[in-house]
Amino acid sequence: MKLSIATALLAITGTAAFAPSTSGSASSALRSTISSEVYTFTKSNEIFEEAKTLMPGGVSSPVRAFKSVGGNPVVFDRVKGAYAWDVDGNKYIDYVGTWGPAILGHADDDVLDAVKKTMDKGTSFGAPCPLENELAKAVIAAVPSVEMVRFTNSGTEACMGMIRLCRAFTNREKVIKFEGCYHGHADSFLVQAGSGVATLGLPDSPGVPSSATKATLCAEYNNLDAVKTIFEENKDEIAAVILEPVVGNSGFIKPDKAFLEGLRELCTKNGSVLVFDEVMTGFRVSYGGAQQYFGITPDLTTMGKVIGGGLPVGAYGGKKEIMEMVAPAGPMYQAGTLSGNPLAMTAGIETMKKLAQPGVYEELERKSKKLVDGIVATAEKHGLPISGDYAGGMFGWYFVDGPVKNFSQAAKADAKKFGKWHRAMLERGVYLAPSMYEAGFMSMAHTDEDIDKTIAIADEVMASL
Ligand SMILES: Cc1ncc(COP(=O)(O)O)c(C=O)c1O
Repeated sequence: MKLSIATALLAITGTAAFAPSTSGSASSALRSTISSEVYTFTKSNEIFEEAKTLMPGGVSSPVRAFKSVGGNPVVFDRVKGAYAWDVDGNKYIDYVGTWGPAILGHADDDVLDAVKKTMDKGTSFGAPCPLENELAKAVIAAVPSVEMVRFTNSGTEACMGMIRLCRAFTNREKVIKFEGCYHGHADSFLVQAGSGVATLGLPDSPGVPSSATKATLCAEYNNLDAVKTIFEENKDEIAAVILEPVVGNSGFIKPDKAFLEGLRELCTKNGSVLVFDEVMTGFRVSYGGAQQYFGITPDLTTMGKVIGGGLPVGAYGGKKEIMEMVAPAGPMYQAGTLSGNPLAMTAGIETMKKLAQPGVYEELERKSKKLVDGIVATAEKHGLPISGDYAGGMFGWYFVDGPVKNFSQAAKADAKKFGKWHRAMLERGVYLAPSMYEAGFMSMAHTDEDIDKTIAIADEVMASL
């Protein structure tokens, strides 16, 4: 529901619309200088207040609670194409796309039709089905490193299986990960680094035993020397180097090609497994993922998001000689009641069919570039520090002078400004990820008009940031 600015000013009462960090004079000043109508969120707020009494923080996954930008989240009613509608009837141009899977746009008609047909046969088999072969063949054909694949139900599960496999295959325990890279919430990955404590392998979250993370060594992203040093200090002990080949969990950070090449060489030389966690980048930056985009082939790859076409799927795959260690072909145990679920396989197959069409990734990247160029130019016009980049259907920007090459540089971005920006864009119909440490996602459904409109709203908002 939209209100004029005058009515909106009357309607603002305390916590409802604004972040604690933006409440008071700063947010009022921002409001009063922006001319367009703003949304109100009465029903969203009511539902969220109830949700908080029922679920921790009112959500099923933490970032959805808008804690880092402040204010309440909006509660969705439905999604279609490039748009989402909340329970108050507000419509958004959505650049979150359910955190990546909605690359065709939300609720694509072909995907829905196929899922409905499969649903008539049942929702879960718990037995082999031909749809698994079909999706496996599509994944193997698309992703350069993948010769064999195991399906799971989430990216987290895929990463848990992957790390056990790396250790089983090499008979070593230590793994190298990078500051600001997220690989799901399994114990051994909950080491953020970015501080001396983290590099000692201490866990980020209470409840994670230190024994689970002491074999996790952290290095700075895009810093090959740091990785070389870890290898030297842990000779013949490194099972794997695991990274997001484009980082989407600290905003948006591209790797230097030489960094990826160097990691490939170091792993080959030291008998360690190179793993690209492509849960986010897979079928997102190109059809063959970041490994195709940058021309560097890892030994193992984890996937998720897009291959589920909006249903819960994860996967890990790679060289046959490694994958044949997975049970029941080999001794490394990993399983799942709903893994290979027919509905999820169907959504993945239909999504991949459409993504395999010529020109899809060129078009996604053209639109990502158009948006990022527009936002960067607009920020510069208003004298705001900004740094933005994109790859295929993934993009991001920081309110800081760039370039941003690692997590500590990303952390210098202006979080307070981001909070104000996020809320003001939301109130005007642009749904951006509620954290400056999350990438944005373009879909095939976004139009040039959507992007132009987003930039025009940004112009209005930035005038007052
Ligand atoms: C790179 C990466 N790996 C793993 C995960 C975990 O996937 P899921 O949320 O499906 O468990 C994510 C989730 O955002 C991710 O971005």
